[in-house]
Amino acid sequence: MIRSRIIATGSYVPPKVLTNFDLEKMVDTSDEWITSRSGIRERRIVERDVATSDLGTQAALRALEMAGLSPEDLDLIITGTNSPDMFFPCTGCFIQAKIGAKKAAAFDVSAGCTSFIHALSLGDKFVKEDPSRKVMVLGAEIMSKVTDWSDRATCVLFGDGAGAVILGGEEGDRGVLSTHLHSDGSLWELLYMPGGGSAHPSSHETVDQRLHCIKMAGNQLFKVAVRALAEVSQEALKFNGLTSQDIDLMIPHQANMRIIEAAAKLINFPMDKVFLNIERYGNTSSATIPIALDELNRAGKLRAGNIILMCSFGTGVTWGGAVIRW
Ligand code: ACO
Repeated sequence: MIRSRIIATGSYVPPKVLTNFDLEKMVDTSDEWITSRSGIRERRIVERDVATSDLGTQAALRALEMAGLSPEDLDLIITGTNSPDMFFPCTGCFIQAKIGAKKAAAFDVSAGCTSFIHALSLGDKFVKEDPSRKVMVLGAEIMSKVTDWSDRATCVLFGDGAGAVILGGEEGDRGVLSTHLHSDGSLWELLYMPGGGSAHPSSHETVDQRLHCIKMAGNQLFKVAVRALAEVSQEALKFNGLTSQDIDLMIPHQANMRIIEAAAKLINFPMDKVFLNIERYGNTSSATIPIALDELNRAGKLRAGNIILMCSFGTGVTWGGAVIRW
């Protein structure tokens, strides 16, 4: 059977660190509150002149280097992002031009923090259609530029970063086993950024009202997220005839440590098999999972044959999962 396999990974986070103690000086919060409520201690923040495609470009180049491929070997670039460089053209086109992937088609996927899982699902299908294709799948975000830095309920949660994987076709058992995507658009008001789009085009008023920043009903989203992560994980296990014992590692979207713990508890999944790096990066939206994959890969913690469960949720509301055999 032909499967699409992750043949290389790459990631990039900007060097500037913003700690909880730095945030204490900006809004009425404390390191103790942020750590105990979210598990986040610090996050990375870009400088003013950096765009999302710049982060994606660095992650892409690192993945290409690991794969031993040249940019011109890529057939397709699919970028998951909620914080694109511009409304149009798509961020993937900027990445394509910056890395010189002349042959590659490029488009973006917007499905909240689940965008990387959606992009991976699409990439998998493109490779299965033609196994000679090399498809780059990214999650790239600059959340700091859509954050309301006066809103303590949201500004403590997010960070910037990008991760990339390259998919190639291969005969055998290794690769993407399944992907599972869901949405419930009726819950859109739990997390959104209203300003600048066709519903609220940019104007002095929209800027004055901070409509170009994240609006979140954190408490309600928390409950939806726990259920979504648990349900999609169970769905993915069941689809593949697996139990949690068969899973070597779960990589959940890093939005909040307590959400991850509650979801794992709901399905009796042991926390010692759950990967966490939220402490260092906060919620980098669609970049959390590919950054995690790259960290694990470069640390030599992924062995051929390992079964990895990935699960995510985000604005929309969207949620999704994927199972891969490394
Ligand atoms: N510092 C101190 N106090 C704060 C802060 C802060 N940074 N933020 C909120 N508070 C206060 C609130 O004002 C509230 O005070 P009150 O009781 O006097 O009104 C109190 O803390 C409790 O607030 P809650 O919102 O009930 O706190 P909760 O325990 O729910 O934690 C949190 C808040 C961390 C935001 C949580 O709800 C959460 O993580 N929700 C999900 C958020 C999320 O994951 N979003 C992104 C998902 S999608 C994506 O990744 C893009």
